[in-house]
Order: sequence, then structure tokens, then C-alpha cells
Amino acid sequence: MEKIVILTGAGISAESGLGTFRDEDGLWAQHRIEDVATPEGFARNPELVHAFYNARRVQAAAAKPNPAHTALARLQRHWPSEVVIVTQNVDSLHEAAGAERVIHMHGSLAGALCAVCDHRWQAPTEMQSGQPCPVCQVAAGRPDVVWFGEMPYFMDEIFDHLDSTDIFAAIGTSGQVYPAAGFVQGARRAGAATVEINLDPSDGASAFDQVVTGPATSTVPSWVENLLAKAR
Ligand code: OAD
Repeated sequence: MEKIVILTGAGISAESGLGTFRDEDGLWAQHRIEDVATPEGFARNPELVHAFYNARRVQAAAAKPNPAHTALARLQRHWPSEVVIVTQNVDSLHEAAGAERVIHMHGSLAGALCAVCDHRWQAPTEMQSGQPCPVCQVAAGRPDVVWFGEMPYFMDEIFDHLDSTDIFAAIGTSGQVYPAAGFVQGARRAGAATVEINLDPSDGASAFDQVVTGPATSTVPSWVENLLAKAR
């Protein structure tokens, strides 16, 4: 049976109340990327960066998974072959919906990372600058999220999955940020059928075999039900 690789972005969590980045009123309309999502911004003003991620951590902790997250978890449970979920999101809503093996390529708000020794630990709800790393004791704790100019996590593993997938779906992502925006090409090279599921067609929609538009809470459950009906 066919292997499925799914890439998700902020759009899948939008109906759980978490803001996207590039939509009107999105996070990048309210904050400068250089200030809150770069290593240089963190070096300049760690308090500001911690305040930004602390607020997002509180918001994410209060959010509930929506029917799109739940449908993907159901697909993983019932599909007779492998279903890999790769997310650009730093929330934990896929896991909260019951998904397993979620690859967080842009890190997670749940994690703290020592910028000096790379030790990782569970982030407290409020991270503060100057708090020491539990291992090396240097005051270099930062959110374990990937910033612009940094290499996303698990890239080798993700490209291995793309090389061997039969179906690739990109859900709720504008396709503006590489390397994730290039995954569709990797999957096509492997001969996979590709589908974009998004509120509106993204700028990169023409790279996909199929484009499904509408809110994720309705499009994703129907896409999953169609697949599972074929597998029965
Ligand atoms: P964007 O904000 O760029 O794109 C969100 C996409 O979701 C848009 O194409 C929307 O049309 C779509 N969308 C909005 N509401 C939706 C809904 N209810 N159902 C379905 N789709 C909906 O977010 P991402 O593509 O995830 O990286 O952004 C990629 C990366 O850019 C993020 O991981 C983050 C950001 O800068 C870093 O911070 C490193």
C-alpha cells in the first residue's frame, strides 16, 4: 500500500485559534522577523524574543486540536502503510490529536535549547533570559525553535521519506519558506502523486497535481475519508 508524507503549516492550526504568519493580521504583520526569529535578534534583545515565544507558548498550550489534526491522526492509525507527518508548526496539536512520529522541522515551543552545548530540556511556560542550562550552567537557554538563517531539523530523514513516498500532501502552508517549499519537487522526482490542501491556492500551487481549497477543518477530514475508503 502507498506511503504518505504530509507537510503541515500554520493554516492547519488556524481554526484552533493560532495565528498564521503571512495572512492579514498574521504574526509577521505584527512583529519584525529580524527582531524575533533570527539568532541576531536574540543576541540583541533576548528579553523581547523570550516574551514573543512565551506569549505563543501560553496561547498554544490553551489551544485544542481541530478536526483536521484529528483526521490526520486517524489516517496514521488506519492507513495500511506508513503515514509520516512533517510539520513546520511549533505547536503540539498533532500530538494532542493522537498523531505519532511527528517530525517538527522548525522545532517546538515545548522545548528549550542551550545555545552553547545543544542540551535540550522541557521549556517552562515562561522562559527568561539569563537562566542557566541545566548541564553546562551557561546562561544560554533559548526556545528550541528554528530561526531564519538556521538549518531546519531532521532534513536527511525528511528527504529520505520524500524519496520513498507515493503520495505527498502539503496542508495549510503558503509555500514561501524553503526548504519546506521545495518538498513537492522532491516528492515529484520520486514519482509521488501530490496534493495541496489550503484555504486558497498558494503561489506554488501549480507544482501540485491536485489542489483542494477550503478551510482545513472540512477539507482535511474529507480527504482522509476518501483515502481510507479506498483502502477498505
Ligand atoms: P503562512 O502563514 O506562511 O501560511 C499559512 C497558509 O495557511 C496560507 O497559505 C493560508 O492561506 C493558509 N490558511 C489559513 N487559514 C487556513 C485554514 N483555516 N485552512 C487551511 N489553510 C489555511 O504559514 P506557513 O506556511 O506555515 O517559520 O509558514 C512557514 C514558516 O514561515 C513557519 O514555519 C515559520 C514562518 O516564518 C519560522 O519561523 C522558521
